Amino acid sequence: MRWRLALVLVGFTTLVLLVQNIPLASYLRTVEKERIISGLEGDAYSLGGFSVPALVPLPPTTGLTAAQAQDLALAKLRERVAAYSAVGGGVVVVVDAQGVAVASSEGRVGEDYLNRPEIALALGKMPASQPAGSFKPAQASSGERPSATLGEPLIFSAVPTRAGSLILGAVRISFPSSNLNDRVNQGVRGLGIAALITLLCAVVIASLVASTVTRRIRRLRDAAERLSDGDLDARADVTGGGGEIEDLAQSFNTMADRVQGVVESQRGFAGDASHQLRTPLTALRLRLDRAADLMPEDDPAIDQVDAARDEIDRLQRLIDGLLVLARADNRDQQLVAIDVSQVAADRVEVWQPLADERSVTIQLDAPGMAVAQLVPSAAEQIIDNYIDNALEVVPEGSLLLVTVRSEPGGVTLMVDDQGPGLPPEDRERAFDRFWRGTQEGEGSGLGLAVVASLVTAGGGTVWLDQSPLGGLRAAARFRAQPPTTGRDSLRGRHS
Ligand SMILES: Nc1ncnc2c1ncn2[C@@H]1O[C@H](COP(=O)(O)OP(=O)(O)O)[C@@H](O)[C@H]1O
Ligand SMILES: [Mg+2]
Repeated sequence: MRWRLALVLVGFTTLVLLVQNIPLASYLRTVEKERIISGLEGDAYSLGGFSVPALVPLPPTTGLTAAQAQDLALAKLRERVAAYSAVGGGVVVVVDAQGVAVASSEGRVGEDYLNRPEIALALGKMPASQPAGSFKPAQASSGERPSATLGEPLIFSAVPTRAGSLILGAVRISFPSSNLNDRVNQGVRGLGIAALITLLCAVVIASLVASTVTRRIRRLRDAAERLSDGDLDARADVTGGGGEIEDLAQSFNTMADRVQGVVESQRGFAGDASHQLRTPLTALRLRLDRAADLMPEDDPAIDQVDAARDEIDRLQRLIDGLLVLARADNRDQQLVAIDVSQVAADRVEVWQPLADERSVTIQLDAPGMAVAQLVPSAAEQIIDNYIDNALEVVPEGSLLLVTVRSEPGGVTLMVDDQGPGLPPEDRERAFDRFWRGTQEGEGSGLGLAVVASLVTAGGGTVWLDQSPLGGLRAAARFRAQPPTTGRDSLRGRHS
Protein backbone atom coordinates (compact mmCIF):
# COMPACT_ATOMS: atom_id res chain seq x y z
CA MET A 1 0.00 0.00 0.00
CA ARG A 2 2.74 2.39 1.07
CA TRP A 3 4.98 1.55 -1.87
CA ARG A 4 2.11 1.65 -4.31
CA LEU A 5 1.26 5.20 -3.19
CA ALA A 6 4.92 6.29 -3.38
CA LEU A 7 5.25 4.68 -6.82
CA VAL A 8 2.21 6.56 -8.12
CA LEU A 9 3.63 9.88 -6.90
CA VAL A 10 7.07 9.21 -8.39
CA GLY A 11 5.54 7.96 -11.65
CA PHE A 12 3.46 11.11 -11.89
CA THR A 13 6.51 13.32 -11.31
CA THR A 14 8.48 11.44 -13.98
CA LEU A 15 5.65 11.92 -16.44
CA VAL A 16 5.48 15.65 -15.72
CA LEU A 17 9.25 15.96 -16.13
CA LEU A 18 9.20 14.10 -19.45
CA VAL A 19 6.30 16.11 -20.82
CA GLN A 20 8.10 19.28 -19.80
CA ASN A 21 11.68 18.47 -20.74
CA ILE A 22 11.34 16.84 -24.18
CA PRO A 23 9.87 19.95 -25.88
CA LEU A 24 12.16 22.09 -23.75
CA ALA A 25 15.25 20.37 -25.17
CA SER A 26 14.12 20.89 -28.76
CA TYR A 27 13.22 24.50 -27.98
CA LEU A 28 16.67 24.93 -26.50
CA ARG A 29 18.26 23.79 -29.79
CA THR A 30 16.16 26.17 -31.86
CA VAL A 31 16.95 29.14 -29.63
CA GLU A 32 20.66 28.32 -29.54
CA LYS A 33 20.77 28.00 -33.33
CA GLU A 34 19.00 31.34 -33.81
CA ARG A 35 21.35 32.93 -31.37
CA ILE A 36 24.48 31.63 -33.14
CA ILE A 37 23.16 32.55 -36.59
CA SER A 38 22.27 36.09 -35.65
CA GLY A 39 25.72 36.47 -34.08
CA LEU A 40 27.33 35.14 -37.27
CA GLU A 41 25.28 37.51 -39.38
CA GLY A 42 26.37 40.54 -37.37
CA ASP A 43 30.00 39.47 -37.58
CA ALA A 44 29.70 38.85 -41.36
CA TYR A 45 28.31 42.34 -41.96
CA SER A 46 31.05 43.90 -39.90
CA LEU A 47 33.74 41.91 -41.74
CA GLY A 48 32.04 42.89 -45.01
CA GLY A 49 32.33 46.58 -44.15
CA PHE A 50 35.96 46.04 -43.25
CA SER A 51 36.64 44.27 -46.58
CA VAL A 52 35.45 47.12 -48.82
CA PRO A 53 38.88 48.82 -49.22
CA ALA A 54 40.39 45.47 -50.09
CA LEU A 55 37.88 44.84 -52.85
CA VAL A 56 37.92 48.21 -54.70
CA PRO A 57 40.78 50.46 -55.54
CA LEU A 58 40.05 53.78 -53.82
CA PRO A 59 41.41 57.19 -54.84
CA PRO A 60 45.01 57.49 -53.61
CA THR A 61 45.65 59.10 -50.21
CA THR A 62 48.67 59.73 -48.02
CA GLY A 63 51.16 59.16 -50.72
CA LEU A 64 50.26 55.55 -51.53
CA THR A 65 49.13 54.43 -54.96
CA ALA A 66 45.64 52.95 -55.24
CA ALA A 67 47.13 49.47 -55.76
CA GLN A 68 49.38 49.85 -52.71
CA ALA A 69 46.44 51.01 -50.58
CA GLN A 70 44.40 48.02 -51.77
CA ASP A 71 47.20 45.57 -50.98
CA LEU A 72 47.52 47.09 -47.49
CA ALA A 73 43.75 46.78 -46.92
CA LEU A 74 43.86 43.18 -48.14
CA ALA A 75 46.65 42.33 -45.72
CA LYS A 76 44.70 43.92 -42.85
CA LEU A 77 41.58 42.01 -43.90
CA ARG A 78 43.44 38.68 -43.86
CA GLU A 79 44.85 39.49 -40.42
CA ARG A 80 41.40 40.32 -39.13
CA VAL A 81 39.92 37.12 -40.61
CA ALA A 82 42.63 35.01 -39.02
CA ALA A 83 42.13 36.74 -35.64
CA TYR A 84 38.37 36.27 -35.80
CA SER A 85 38.71 32.62 -36.57
CA ALA A 86 41.32 32.12 -33.86
CA VAL A 87 39.07 33.62 -31.18
CA GLY A 88 35.63 32.23 -32.09
CA GLY A 89 36.48 29.09 -34.05
CA GLY A 90 34.34 30.16 -37.00
CA VAL A 91 35.42 29.50 -40.59
CA VAL A 92 35.56 32.75 -42.59
CA VAL A 93 35.84 33.30 -46.29
CA VAL A 94 35.75 36.68 -48.05
CA VAL A 95 35.12 36.53 -51.81
CA ASP A 96 35.20 39.17 -54.51
CA ALA A 97 32.37 39.88 -56.94
CA GLN A 98 33.33 36.81 -58.99
CA GLY A 99 33.18 34.48 -56.04
CA VAL A 100 36.94 34.02 -55.76
CA ALA A 101 38.30 33.93 -52.21
CA VAL A 102 40.44 36.93 -51.30
CA ALA A 103 40.73 36.09 -47.63
CA SER A 104 40.15 32.77 -45.94
CA SER A 105 40.69 31.55 -42.40
CA GLU A 106 41.62 28.20 -43.89
CA GLY A 107 44.16 29.41 -46.42
CA ARG A 108 41.91 28.91 -49.43
CA VAL A 109 42.65 32.25 -51.07
CA GLY A 110 42.12 32.05 -54.84
CA GLU A 111 39.56 29.22 -54.63
CA ASP A 112 36.30 29.67 -56.51
CA TYR A 113 33.31 29.70 -54.10
CA LEU A 114 30.62 30.43 -56.64
CA ASN A 115 29.38 26.86 -56.50
CA ARG A 116 28.39 27.38 -52.83
CA PRO A 117 24.71 28.31 -53.04
CA GLU A 118 24.79 30.90 -50.22
CA ILE A 119 27.78 32.70 -51.86
CA ALA A 120 26.06 32.75 -55.24
CA LEU A 121 22.94 34.15 -53.56
CA ALA A 122 24.93 36.84 -51.74
CA LEU A 123 26.57 37.88 -55.02
CA GLY A 124 23.32 37.82 -56.95
CA LYS A 125 24.82 35.23 -59.33
CA MET A 126 23.60 31.86 -60.41
CA PRO A 127 25.58 28.87 -59.26
CA ALA A 128 26.59 26.69 -62.22
CA SER A 129 24.22 23.96 -61.03
CA GLN A 130 21.14 26.20 -61.19
CA PRO A 131 19.02 26.36 -64.36
CA ALA A 132 19.21 29.60 -66.33
CA GLY A 133 16.51 32.16 -65.60
CA SER A 134 16.40 31.50 -61.86
CA PHE A 135 18.23 34.73 -61.10
CA LYS A 136 17.71 36.38 -57.78
CA PRO A 137 18.99 39.73 -56.55
CA ALA A 138 21.93 39.64 -54.13
CA GLN A 139 20.79 38.84 -50.64
CA ALA A 140 21.98 37.60 -47.27
CA SER A 141 21.16 34.05 -46.23
CA SER A 142 21.77 31.89 -43.24
CA GLY A 143 20.86 28.47 -41.90
CA GLU A 144 22.12 24.96 -41.72
CA ARG A 145 23.12 22.79 -44.66
CA PRO A 146 25.17 19.65 -45.29
CA SER A 147 28.74 20.34 -46.33
CA ALA A 148 30.72 18.08 -48.64
CA THR A 149 33.97 19.79 -47.60
CA LEU A 150 33.39 19.35 -43.86
CA GLY A 151 31.65 16.00 -44.14
CA GLU A 152 29.08 17.15 -41.56
CA PRO A 153 26.29 19.73 -41.42
CA LEU A 154 27.27 23.35 -41.22
CA ILE A 155 25.69 26.48 -39.82
CA PHE A 156 26.41 29.48 -41.90
CA SER A 157 25.65 33.09 -42.57
CA ALA A 158 26.58 34.69 -45.89
CA VAL A 159 26.10 38.38 -46.61
CA PRO A 160 26.84 40.54 -49.65
CA THR A 161 29.37 43.36 -49.43
CA ARG A 162 28.02 46.47 -51.14
CA ALA A 163 29.18 49.88 -52.10
CA GLY A 164 25.96 51.67 -52.87
CA SER A 165 24.09 49.47 -55.30
CA LEU A 166 27.28 47.75 -56.43
CA ILE A 167 28.03 44.24 -55.17
CA LEU A 168 31.72 44.08 -54.33
CA GLY A 169 31.83 40.61 -52.91
CA ALA A 170 30.53 38.53 -50.03
CA VAL A 171 31.50 37.24 -46.59
CA ARG A 172 30.56 33.83 -45.27
CA ILE A 173 31.11 32.68 -41.71
CA SER A 174 30.32 29.09 -40.85
CA PHE A 175 30.50 26.66 -37.97
CA PRO A 176 30.30 22.90 -37.96
CA SER A 177 26.88 21.92 -36.51
CA SER A 178 28.63 19.77 -33.92
CA ASN A 179 29.54 23.02 -32.15
CA LEU A 180 25.88 23.84 -31.78
CA ASN A 181 25.06 20.31 -30.71
CA ASP A 182 27.73 20.45 -28.03
CA ARG A 183 26.22 23.59 -26.59
CA VAL A 184 22.68 22.18 -26.76
CA ASN A 185 23.79 18.94 -25.16
CA GLN A 186 25.31 20.91 -22.34
CA GLY A 187 21.99 22.67 -21.82
CA VAL A 188 20.09 19.40 -21.98
CA ARG A 189 22.48 17.87 -19.47
CA GLY A 190 21.68 20.77 -17.15
CA LEU A 191 17.98 20.11 -17.62
CA GLY A 192 18.53 16.41 -16.95
CA ILE A 193 20.37 17.10 -13.71
CA ALA A 194 17.60 19.46 -12.59
CA ALA A 195 15.04 16.78 -13.48
CA LEU A 196 16.97 14.16 -11.54
CA ILE A 197 17.11 16.37 -8.46
CA THR A 198 13.37 17.02 -8.77
CA LEU A 199 12.78 13.28 -9.05
CA LEU A 200 14.89 12.55 -5.97
CA CYS A 201 12.93 15.17 -4.01
CA ALA A 202 9.73 13.54 -5.27
CA VAL A 203 10.92 10.13 -4.06
CA VAL A 204 11.72 11.47 -0.61
CA ILE A 205 8.47 13.45 -0.31
CA ALA A 206 6.41 10.60 -1.75
CA SER A 207 7.77 8.06 0.67
CA LEU A 208 7.30 10.47 3.57
CA VAL A 209 3.69 11.21 2.61
CA ALA A 210 3.00 7.55 1.89
CA SER A 211 4.46 6.38 5.17
CA THR A 212 2.53 8.84 7.32
CA VAL A 213 -0.72 8.05 5.53
CA THR A 214 -0.20 4.31 5.70
CA ARG A 215 0.96 4.44 9.31
CA ARG A 216 -2.30 6.07 10.34
CA ILE A 217 -4.35 3.69 8.24
CA ARG A 218 -2.45 0.73 9.68
CA ARG A 219 -3.26 1.90 13.23
CA LEU A 220 -6.91 2.15 12.26
CA ARG A 221 -6.78 -1.32 10.73
CA ASP A 222 -5.21 -2.70 13.93
CA ALA A 223 -8.06 -1.25 15.98
CA ALA A 224 -10.61 -2.73 13.55
CA GLU A 225 -8.92 -6.12 13.79
CA ARG A 226 -8.92 -6.01 17.56
CA LEU A 227 -12.63 -5.16 17.53
CA SER A 228 -13.39 -7.97 15.13
CA ASP A 229 -11.35 -10.29 17.37
CA GLY A 230 -13.84 -9.49 20.11
CA ASP A 231 -11.96 -6.80 22.02
CA LEU A 232 -14.90 -4.45 22.43
CA ASP A 233 -12.70 -1.83 24.10
CA ALA A 234 -10.60 -1.41 20.95
CA ARG A 235 -10.64 2.21 19.76
CA ALA A 236 -8.76 4.06 17.05
CA ASP A 237 -6.39 6.91 17.83
CA VAL A 238 -8.09 10.08 16.56
CA THR A 239 -5.40 12.54 17.53
CA GLY A 240 -3.07 13.94 14.89
CA GLY A 241 -3.28 13.69 11.16
CA GLY A 242 -6.49 15.59 10.65
CA GLY A 243 -8.56 15.37 7.53
CA GLU A 244 -10.35 12.30 6.24
CA ILE A 245 -8.34 9.77 8.23
CA GLU A 246 -9.20 11.50 11.50
CA ASP A 247 -12.87 11.57 10.46
CA LEU A 248 -12.65 7.89 9.62
CA ALA A 249 -11.12 7.11 13.03
CA GLN A 250 -13.86 9.15 14.69
CA SER A 251 -16.57 7.27 12.78
CA PHE A 252 -14.91 3.97 13.62
CA ASN A 253 -14.97 4.83 17.32
CA THR A 254 -18.61 5.84 17.20
CA MET A 255 -19.41 2.53 15.51
CA ALA A 256 -17.33 0.63 18.10
CA ASP A 257 -19.24 2.38 20.92
CA ARG A 258 -22.54 1.28 19.42
CA VAL A 259 -21.36 -2.28 18.82
CA GLN A 260 -20.11 -2.48 22.38
CA GLY A 261 -23.40 -1.17 23.73
CA VAL A 262 -25.47 -3.61 21.67
CA VAL A 263 -23.30 -6.63 22.44
CA GLU A 264 -23.16 -5.93 26.16
CA SER A 265 -26.90 -5.38 26.49
CA GLN A 266 -27.52 -8.56 24.48
CA ARG A 267 -25.22 -10.58 26.70
CA GLY A 268 -26.87 -9.14 29.76
CA PHE A 269 -30.28 -9.95 28.36
CA ALA A 270 -29.51 -13.61 27.66
CA GLY A 271 -28.15 -14.06 31.18
CA ASP A 272 -30.95 -12.17 32.89
CA ALA A 273 -33.70 -13.83 30.86
CA SER A 274 -32.50 -17.37 31.53
CA HIS A 275 -32.01 -16.56 35.18
CA GLN A 276 -35.53 -15.12 35.49
CA LEU A 277 -37.06 -18.09 33.67
CA ARG A 278 -35.55 -20.61 36.05
CA THR A 279 -37.73 -19.84 39.08
CA PRO A 280 -41.19 -20.06 37.44
CA LEU A 281 -40.03 -23.15 35.56
CA THR A 282 -38.99 -24.87 38.78
CA ALA A 283 -42.34 -23.93 40.32
CA LEU A 284 -44.15 -25.35 37.28
CA ARG A 285 -42.19 -28.56 37.51
CA LEU A 286 -43.08 -28.90 41.23
CA ARG A 287 -46.77 -28.29 40.51
CA LEU A 288 -46.79 -30.94 37.79
CA ASP A 289 -45.04 -33.39 40.13
CA ARG A 290 -47.67 -32.60 42.71
CA ALA A 291 -50.50 -33.04 40.21
CA ALA A 292 -49.08 -36.42 39.14
CA ASP A 293 -48.90 -37.46 42.79
CA LEU A 294 -52.57 -36.52 43.29
CA MET A 295 -53.79 -38.41 40.23
CA PRO A 296 -54.94 -41.97 40.51
CA GLU A 297 -52.46 -44.30 38.86
CA ASP A 298 -54.91 -45.43 36.22
CA ASP A 299 -55.89 -41.91 35.25
CA PRO A 300 -55.74 -41.70 31.45
CA ALA A 301 -54.36 -38.15 31.71
CA ILE A 302 -51.21 -39.32 33.52
CA ASP A 303 -49.34 -39.93 30.24
CA GLN A 304 -49.95 -36.31 29.23
CA VAL A 305 -48.63 -35.06 32.56
CA ASP A 306 -45.51 -37.22 32.18
CA ALA A 307 -44.94 -35.89 28.66
CA ALA A 308 -45.32 -32.33 30.00
CA ARG A 309 -42.72 -33.07 32.69
CA ASP A 310 -40.29 -34.31 30.01
CA GLU A 311 -40.80 -31.12 28.03
CA ILE A 312 -40.16 -29.06 31.14
CA ASP A 313 -36.94 -31.01 31.74
CA ARG A 314 -35.86 -30.21 28.21
CA LEU A 315 -36.69 -26.55 28.69
CA GLN A 316 -34.74 -26.54 31.92
CA ARG A 317 -31.68 -27.98 30.19
CA LEU A 318 -31.95 -25.35 27.50
CA ILE A 319 -32.17 -22.55 30.01
CA ASP A 320 -29.28 -23.95 32.06
CA GLY A 321 -27.24 -24.12 28.84
CA LEU A 322 -28.12 -20.56 27.96
CA LEU A 323 -27.11 -19.38 31.40
CA VAL A 324 -23.76 -21.17 31.14
CA LEU A 325 -23.27 -19.67 27.70
CA ALA A 326 -24.11 -16.19 28.94
CA ARG A 327 -21.58 -16.60 31.73
CA ALA A 328 -18.98 -17.96 29.32
CA ASP A 329 -19.66 -15.02 27.01
CA ASN A 330 -18.95 -12.60 29.81
CA ARG A 331 -15.50 -11.55 28.62
CA ASP A 332 -14.61 -9.53 31.69
CA GLN A 333 -13.34 -12.59 33.51
CA GLN A 334 -9.67 -12.62 34.40
CA LEU A 335 -7.59 -15.44 32.98
CA VAL A 336 -5.85 -17.77 35.40
CA ALA A 337 -3.00 -20.26 34.94
CA ILE A 338 -4.44 -23.77 34.96
CA ASP A 339 -2.69 -27.16 34.82
CA VAL A 340 -4.69 -28.83 32.06
CA SER A 341 -3.03 -32.21 32.72
CA GLN A 342 -4.26 -32.15 36.32
CA VAL A 343 -7.80 -31.17 35.34
CA ALA A 344 -7.91 -33.83 32.63
CA ALA A 345 -6.84 -36.53 35.12
CA ASP A 346 -9.54 -35.40 37.58
CA ARG A 347 -12.27 -35.39 34.95
CA VAL A 348 -11.34 -38.80 33.53
CA GLU A 349 -11.66 -40.18 37.06
CA VAL A 350 -15.09 -38.59 37.48
CA TRP A 351 -16.38 -39.95 34.15
CA GLN A 352 -14.89 -43.42 34.55
CA PRO A 353 -17.88 -44.98 36.39
CA LEU A 354 -20.31 -43.84 33.69
CA ALA A 355 -17.97 -45.11 30.98
CA ASP A 356 -17.64 -48.44 32.78
CA GLU A 357 -21.41 -48.79 32.67
CA ARG A 358 -21.16 -48.80 28.88
CA SER A 359 -17.95 -50.83 28.83
CA VAL A 360 -16.12 -47.85 27.37
CA THR A 361 -12.47 -47.44 28.29
CA ILE A 362 -11.23 -43.87 28.87
CA GLN A 363 -7.48 -43.53 28.44
CA LEU A 364 -5.46 -40.47 29.44
CA ASP A 365 -2.25 -39.46 27.72
CA ALA A 366 -0.91 -36.32 29.41
CA PRO A 367 2.43 -34.92 30.57
CA GLY A 368 3.06 -34.31 34.27
CA MET A 369 2.13 -30.67 33.87
CA ALA A 370 0.72 -28.51 31.11
CA VAL A 371 -0.10 -24.97 32.20
CA ALA A 372 -2.27 -22.66 30.11
CA GLN A 373 -4.18 -19.41 30.53
CA LEU A 374 -7.91 -19.99 30.86
CA VAL A 375 -11.10 -18.56 32.25
CA PRO A 376 -11.65 -20.13 35.73
CA SER A 377 -13.37 -23.56 35.54
CA ALA A 378 -13.20 -23.49 31.72
CA ALA A 379 -10.94 -26.56 31.51
CA GLU A 380 -13.46 -28.73 33.43
CA GLN A 381 -16.40 -27.60 31.31
CA ILE A 382 -14.52 -28.12 28.05
CA ILE A 383 -13.31 -31.62 28.90
CA ASP A 384 -16.73 -32.55 30.34
CA ASN A 385 -18.50 -31.45 27.18
CA TYR A 386 -16.11 -33.33 24.90
CA ILE A 387 -16.32 -36.55 26.97
CA ASP A 388 -20.09 -36.22 27.40
CA ASN A 389 -20.60 -35.82 23.64
CA ALA A 390 -18.34 -38.76 22.86
CA LEU A 391 -20.02 -41.09 25.40
CA GLU A 392 -23.33 -40.14 23.81
CA VAL A 393 -22.39 -41.69 20.47
CA VAL A 394 -19.68 -44.33 20.94
CA PRO A 395 -20.48 -48.03 20.66
CA GLU A 396 -20.13 -50.33 23.64
CA GLY A 397 -16.64 -51.60 24.36
CA SER A 398 -14.91 -48.85 22.43
CA LEU A 399 -11.98 -46.69 23.43
CA LEU A 400 -12.01 -42.99 24.31
CA LEU A 401 -8.65 -41.24 24.35
CA VAL A 402 -8.03 -37.95 26.19
CA THR A 403 -4.71 -36.39 25.15
CA VAL A 404 -2.95 -33.30 26.56
CA ARG A 405 0.15 -31.96 24.84
CA SER A 406 2.36 -29.18 26.15
CA GLU A 407 3.90 -27.34 23.22
CA PRO A 408 5.87 -24.13 22.86
CA GLY A 409 3.42 -21.28 23.32
CA GLY A 410 0.43 -23.36 24.33
CA VAL A 411 -1.35 -26.53 25.40
CA THR A 412 -3.40 -28.78 23.10
CA LEU A 413 -6.29 -30.91 24.34
CA MET A 414 -7.79 -33.71 22.22
CA VAL A 415 -10.63 -36.13 22.87
CA ASP A 416 -10.69 -38.96 20.31
CA ASP A 417 -13.53 -41.47 20.03
CA GLN A 418 -14.56 -44.44 17.92
CA GLY A 419 -18.07 -43.17 17.26
CA PRO A 420 -19.62 -42.31 13.90
CA GLY A 421 -17.74 -39.01 13.63
CA LEU A 422 -19.09 -35.96 11.81
CA PRO A 423 -18.90 -35.10 8.10
CA PRO A 424 -16.51 -32.17 7.43
CA GLU A 425 -19.34 -29.75 6.57
CA ASP A 426 -20.93 -30.33 10.00
CA ARG A 427 -17.75 -29.96 12.03
CA GLU A 428 -17.80 -26.17 11.90
CA ARG A 429 -21.58 -25.94 12.41
CA ALA A 430 -21.44 -28.16 15.48
CA PHE A 431 -20.11 -25.13 17.40
CA ASP A 432 -23.21 -23.11 16.51
CA ARG A 433 -25.80 -22.57 19.20
CA PHE A 434 -28.65 -25.13 19.21
CA TRP A 435 -27.12 -27.16 16.37
CA ARG A 436 -27.55 -30.85 17.11
CA GLY A 437 -27.37 -32.47 13.68
CA THR A 438 -29.57 -35.58 13.64
CA GLN A 439 -28.94 -36.25 17.32
CA GLU A 440 -32.04 -37.37 19.22
CA GLY A 441 -32.76 -37.43 22.94
CA GLU A 442 -31.26 -35.27 25.65
CA GLY A 443 -29.06 -32.31 24.94
CA SER A 444 -29.57 -28.67 24.15
CA GLY A 445 -27.14 -28.15 21.26
CA LEU A 446 -25.36 -25.60 23.43
CA GLY A 447 -22.48 -27.73 24.74
CA LEU A 448 -20.00 -27.01 21.93
CA ALA A 449 -21.09 -23.36 21.74
CA VAL A 450 -20.15 -23.05 25.42
CA VAL A 451 -16.83 -24.78 24.71
CA ALA A 452 -16.06 -22.40 21.84
CA SER A 453 -16.94 -19.40 23.96
CA LEU A 454 -14.79 -20.54 26.89
CA VAL A 455 -11.77 -21.37 24.72
CA THR A 456 -11.86 -18.18 22.69
CA ALA A 457 -12.28 -16.14 25.89
CA GLY A 458 -8.73 -17.25 26.70
CA GLY A 459 -7.47 -16.47 23.21
CA GLY A 460 -7.41 -20.13 22.20
CA THR A 461 -8.87 -22.08 19.28
CA VAL A 462 -11.28 -25.02 18.99
CA TRP A 463 -11.84 -27.47 16.17
CA LEU A 464 -13.28 -30.87 15.27
CA ASP A 465 -11.47 -33.32 13.04
CA GLN A 466 -11.43 -36.89 11.86
CA SER A 467 -9.92 -38.99 14.63
CA PRO A 468 -7.21 -41.57 13.93
CA LEU A 469 -9.32 -43.86 16.15
CA GLY A 470 -12.07 -43.75 13.52
CA GLY A 471 -14.56 -41.39 15.13
CA LEU A 472 -14.37 -37.70 15.92
CA ARG A 473 -11.49 -35.73 17.37
CA ALA A 474 -12.68 -32.78 19.46
CA ALA A 475 -9.75 -30.49 20.12
CA ALA A 476 -8.77 -27.16 21.67
CA ARG A 477 -5.59 -25.21 21.91
CA PHE A 478 -4.95 -22.87 24.81
CA ARG A 479 -2.38 -20.15 25.13
CA ALA A 480 0.50 -20.45 27.56
CA GLN A 481 0.57 -16.65 27.88
CA PRO A 482 -2.42 -14.31 28.09
CA PRO A 483 -3.09 -12.66 24.70
CA THR A 484 -1.72 -9.13 24.42
CA THR A 485 -4.42 -7.61 22.23
CA GLY A 486 -8.03 -8.37 22.97
CA ARG A 487 -9.01 -10.89 25.56
CA ASP A 488 -10.56 -13.33 23.18
CA SER A 489 -10.83 -14.27 19.59
CA LEU A 490 -14.10 -14.90 17.83
CA ARG A 491 -12.03 -16.00 14.87
CA GLY A 492 -10.28 -18.60 16.94
CA ARG A 493 -12.26 -21.46 15.53
CA HIS A 494 -10.98 -23.59 12.73
CA SER A 495 -11.71 -27.01 11.32
N1 LIG B 1 -17.98 -36.93 19.54
C1 LIG B 1 -18.97 -36.67 18.67
N2 LIG B 1 -19.27 -37.56 17.69
C2 LIG B 1 -20.26 -37.29 16.81
N3 LIG B 1 -21.03 -36.18 16.84
C3 LIG B 1 -20.79 -35.28 17.81
C4 LIG B 1 -19.75 -35.46 18.76
N4 LIG B 1 -19.74 -34.38 19.57
C5 LIG B 1 -20.75 -33.57 19.15
N5 LIG B 1 -21.38 -34.10 18.09
C6 LIG B 1 -22.50 -33.52 17.37
O1 LIG B 1 -22.54 -32.13 17.65
C7 LIG B 1 -23.80 -31.77 18.16
C8 LIG B 1 -23.68 -30.59 19.05
O2 LIG B 1 -23.07 -30.96 20.27
P1 LIG B 1 -23.36 -30.11 21.54
O3 LIG B 1 -23.18 -28.69 21.19
O4 LIG B 1 -22.55 -30.64 22.66
O5 LIG B 1 -24.89 -30.31 21.80
P2 LIG B 1 -25.63 -31.55 22.46
O6 LIG B 1 -24.59 -32.44 23.03
O7 LIG B 1 -26.48 -30.91 23.49
O8 LIG B 1 -26.40 -32.16 21.36
C9 LIG B 1 -24.32 -33.03 18.78
O9 LIG B 1 -25.72 -33.00 18.84
C10 LIG B 1 -23.80 -34.09 17.84
O10 LIG B 1 -24.68 -34.22 16.74
MG1 LIG C 1 -23.12 -31.90 24.29
